[in-house]
Formats: sequence, structure tokens, C-alpha cells
Amino acid sequence: MQIYKVGGAVRDRLLGRPVSDVDWLVVGATVEQMQALGYRPVGADFPVFIHPKTGEEYALARTERKSGRGYGGFTFHASPEVTLEQDLIRRDLTINAMAEDEHGSLCDPYHGKTDLDKRILRHVSPAFAEDPLRVLRVARFAARYAPLGFRVAEETLELMRQISDSGELQALTAERSWKEIERALMEDQPQVFIQVLRDCAALKQLMPELDTLLDSDQRTLAVLEQAALHQQPLHVRWACLTHDLGGAIKAINQRFKAPRECQELALLVGECHGYCQQDYTLSASKLLELLQKFDVYRRPQRFEDYIAACEMIARGRQQLQEQGYPQGAYLRAAAQEAKAVDVKSLVERGLTGQALGEALRSERLAALERFTQA
Ligand code: CTP
Repeated sequence: MQIYKVGGAVRDRLLGRPVSDVDWLVVGATVEQMQALGYRPVGADFPVFIHPKTGEEYALARTERKSGRGYGGFTFHASPEVTLEQDLIRRDLTINAMAEDEHGSLCDPYHGKTDLDKRILRHVSPAFAEDPLRVLRVARFAARYAPLGFRVAEETLELMRQISDSGELQALTAERSWKEIERALMEDQPQVFIQVLRDCAALKQLMPELDTLLDSDQRTLAVLEQAALHQQPLHVRWACLTHDLGGAIKAINQRFKAPRECQELALLVGECHGYCQQDYTLSASKLLELLQKFDVYRRPQRFEDYIAACEMIARGRQQLQEQGYPQGAYLRAAAQEAKAVDVKSLVERGLTGQALGEALRSERLAALERFTQA
């Protein structure tokens, strides 16, 4: 049997990027041989094993044939006869279809190194279409490697367009799609992910609401770019992406089963980002409504995330005159005033339940009135 290092580890080493996990490919072995050597099988359907000591993944060389629609619709054929070339040809991109043998020599039958040097994301063969998730993967790699000057090959974009038009993206599970979206949003240039999806008509399938918005207004891309430039966390980036989608935010959240923190912030930012842009003219009662809605007293970080998202929106829309974001400081100061209202003294006056709630509210309002008039 021969063992090769494959996939992302080979690619990233050649790019001089840090390698996180290593995938290995085993040619010329059977399941029984692997087990006899102490490798632990994982997954019922996949011929993949875990190394007993290193914990790294070893996959038997395989060919794949599609047997139906969706991710469930795969049959795998792994046997000792499957060659390295046969295994590599079914992979997504040429830069992901390189292998390194035990001596560190590159096996590169599909010219991944040339494409790497030319900064091109190109599919290996028509087998690309076997897994529609690859449309999202290519867009994600485009976002990741955009700073290095990578672009998607025209013929690959065309194939991605065909897959999108075929409706196959609808068969992807929410979990698989979200995993790609999440990783793409955390890349250096997440706006490239959205742009590539748009260029191949996949966005129309995945997030038609956003696609339509972008037809007339590109600012969301600039907002997302700002969120990445300012290294915002995932939920802030998600809220930036969806901030202008109004009533569709709920549907998009649910479509991809976004994590709770993402869903919640997206809905709040979608509803309230306008307030942050006009904060100086907000009345005390509007300010109070905003602070109550965010429950800033118990959830201070969520309010900070809101301010961060609003700052990115303002930056993306180029509404910032200077470096700072005074609106944020203003809202934080307002929150401080409302939080400073002393609950204990109200309780000591014997107030409870609804009466306590009302007293608290009117004292906070009074504090915010003093604040807005100052
Ligand atoms: N692969 C593929 N099609 C997929 C998923 C994976 O062809 N839908 C192949 C590619 O050859 C890829 C390898 O399996 O390089 C390993 O996949 P994965 O670990 O998901 O990605 P990496 O390429 O290692 O990239 P990342 O840095 O994003 O983890």
C-alpha cells in the first residue's frame, strides 16, 4: 500500500500558509488490512479511518458515483484497484487534487501547481458536479485566497452556473450549507464569497432576497467587507450581511438554521440599525425603547454587538466623516444612564411586580430625558 498526503495540507504548504489538519490517502489497501494495522474506521458509509496514534484521517482511494439527488445520493466505490489518479480526478479543484508521497515528492496529474502559481481556482473534471456543495466551497476559497490574487476560472464559473440553474443547490441540507457560509463569512474577504455566488447565479437559489437587493444596491457587500476588516465575530458579520433584508431576515435565518446568537442579532440589527444612524435626534422614549428591546441591563454584550454592526453599516455606506463612531459612544452613554437607575431603592420603597416595573421605566425615562437635554 502507498500513503499520500492530500488536499488542503499540500495546497497550503505550497502557498506558504499554516496547515491546520492533514488528510491522508491510502492506495492499494483493503478495509481489513487497515483494521489489522490498528486504524479505527469512522462513518458507516465512508472508507475513512483514524490513525491509532496521531488521530489523523486516512481515506481509502475511492471513486464516487452519484445515485440520486442530494447528499444522501452517493455510492462509494473503494477498492485496492483504485489508483491515485482515479481518486484525485473526482476532487473539486486542481489545487486541491495534489498529493505528496512519503518522500515529499509532488504527484500532480491535474496541474494543480500550475493553477496555484497562476492563482486560478479551476475544477478538475466534470465529476465536480457530483457534489453541489462545491459551488459554495469554490466561492469560499475565492474569499479566502482573494488577498493572494486568486480568481475562479471562467469554465468553472460556467459549470457552477449550470449546477445552480439545475436546482441542485436546493437539495443541500441546511447544516452543510451553513458550515460553508459560516467559514466563508470568517474569511478575510467574505464579500467575495457573496459576489462569486452571485456571479454563478447560486445566490439567486440560496438567498434570493439578498440577490434582488444587490441588483439595485451593492452597499451590503461594502458593509460585510468592513466587518471583516474590523475582525468582527461571526454573529456581527451575519447581521451585517442580512441587515437590509427586512422581513426576509427571519426566513433566511431559518433556511440555514443559523445559530441562535446569529439569528437573534440579525433580527435586532435588521429592525433597529436605523436608530443608530440617527441617534442624536432620538427622543428619550425612543432611546428607552431601544435599550429595553436589547435588554441592555442583563445583556450588555448584545448591545455592544448591535453598536458594532451599526458602525460597520455606517462605514460600508461611507457615512462616517471621521475615524471614530461617536454614535456608538452616545448610545453607550445613554445605556449607562438607564442602567444607573437604582433598583434597590425602589424595592426598599416596597414596590414589587408590575408597579416596580413601571417605576423603573419612568425613572429610566427621566434619566434619559436629562441625558438628551444635556
Ligand atoms: N473535497 C472535494 N469535494 C468536497 C470536499 C472535499 O473534492 N466537497 C476534497 C478536496 O480534495 C479537499 C479534500 O477533499 O482538498 C479535503 O477536504 P476538506 O478538509 O473539506 O478541505 P480542505 O481542502 O482541507 O480545505 P480547508 O482548508 O477549507 O479545510
